[in-house]
Amino acid sequence: MSVEFPWSPAGGAGVGVAFEDPGLAGSDHHFLRFDFYPLLSPSHPGRHLAYFDLPLRRVDGPNLRATLTKGALVVSDATGSHVVDPVWRGALPLAGYCRLTVSLWSTEGEVPIQIEAAISAPMTLPSDANTPLERILVAVTQRCNLTCPMCTRQRGSDLDEADISDDVLAALLDAAPHAVFVGLQGLGEPLLHRDLSGMVRAFRARLPSVGRIGLTTNGTPLTRDRSAQLIAEGLNTITVSMDGATKATYEARRTGADFDRVVRNIAAAASCALGSGRDDVWLGANYVMDPDNLAEVPAFVRLAASLGLCAVSFFHGRLYPDMRLVPLDAETLARGRAAALQIGRETGVTVRFASSRPTMPPQCPFMNSAYLWLTGEVVPCDRMEPPGRPWPTRIFGNVREQPLLEIWNQPEYQTFRHGVLSGNLPGECRDCTFCDSVVC
Ligand SMILES: C[S@@+](CC[C@H](N)C(=O)[O-])C[C@H]1O[C@@H](n2cnc3c(N)ncnc32)[C@H](O)[C@@H]1O
Ligand code: SF4
Ligand code: SF4
Repeated sequence: MSVEFPWSPAGGAGVGVAFEDPGLAGSDHHFLRFDFYPLLSPSHPGRHLAYFDLPLRRVDGPNLRATLTKGALVVSDATGSHVVDPVWRGALPLAGYCRLTVSLWSTEGEVPIQIEAAISAPMTLPSDANTPLERILVAVTQRCNLTCPMCTRQRGSDLDEADISDDVLAALLDAAPHAVFVGLQGLGEPLLHRDLSGMVRAFRARLPSVGRIGLTTNGTPLTRDRSAQLIAEGLNTITVSMDGATKATYEARRTGADFDRVVRNIAAAASCALGSGRDDVWLGANYVMDPDNLAEVPAFVRLAASLGLCAVSFFHGRLYPDMRLVPLDAETLARGRAAALQIGRETGVTVRFASSRPTMPPQCPFMNSAYLWLTGEVVPCDRMEPPGRPWPTRIFGNVREQPLLEIWNQPEYQTFRHGVLSGNLPGECRDCTFCDSVVC
């Protein structure tokens, strides 16, 4: 079986399947499964949007084309088209960025078995409708205990040392029942917020039962007690940023941090997660690659496995002020990537790499999320944080003046999202390297 993914941003999500064995078409004992997953952050590994099963007895000829339209799969073959309804559909609409997996199954035994490796591709499912607000990303604080040289915080002057205001937080809680994910992050260290546990507790009380809460931390203030408390309050995902597998490499990038302490903290967090008895707690790491830490990529996966992390995402460093991607030696990257993926398979750690060039069409990972600045401004992504940056921002409202959902649903914001999702990038998004950071 070979599969082609001729996705077009606006013209539908079509896939072509060809069978090398002509006997498969018309077979009573085989079916194709089309699985759709949201292309979100790795903190949602298990979420599924829908799947469709196509019995091959309904297929005529060795080639078929399947297109997703209005929530059904339309299959065309030599004899015409027919509609396949989903076997299962999740609560989320089939729109926006997705990952598609096509697999071939046999029903000859007692239970169906997959007989060909799944093939997947990121894609955009077109949506005429408004996209739903799934994720609320909250800038928690601008304060930080480290001075990592690569971080845009080091630009200084326009950053004050502020935490999110209480009235902004209260307004966000009103929108929480409509979200499936709350990310506590921002241009600082969230664990420095004076009452992060209280914030987790408040969101947990308002989110729907499937809702998840996650944070990204430098790991230095993540003591065993804090991990235990945050998990007890209902935190689901902890992502620790570490950019080296050895003390020297790590500490050169994380000025003010102590490698041994962070390693101890991660191991303690993993044991708290395990001890909680919950199956919805997930620990991962982000690793920002640069030319001098690239060689430690495989060793970092081993370290992550030894500490009990579930996943590692490797990103390309961006250079301030224009946020160009740090150039990396292609051969070293390819070698490191292959070794890291192999170690991931051996150890059970999920390993992901951001794409090394712009995705086509550009896949902005933020079109199902609103980013909330400390003082209540609603912007599409963290690149558009209001404090002056050398690139444009776009503020769609302030939750101190208007409910978040009202801001989300206003026509200008809908038009903005539709532009990004259809590959017709608004002016503010030109030259955005964040699209190159989608983890594939
Ligand atoms: C700004 S930090 C805030 C959260 C926390 N202080 C931390 O370090 O994880 C969010 C993420 O941005 C990443 N980051 C910082 N500077 C970067 C750069 N120049 N290029 C790419 N990612 C960067 C960090 O590694 C971290 O995973
Ligand atoms: S710890 Fe995070 S926010 Fe602080 S300087 Fe480092 S990357 Fe930036
Ligand atoms: S600037 Fe980039 S990350 Fe932000 S909304 Fe536009 S495309 Fe997405």
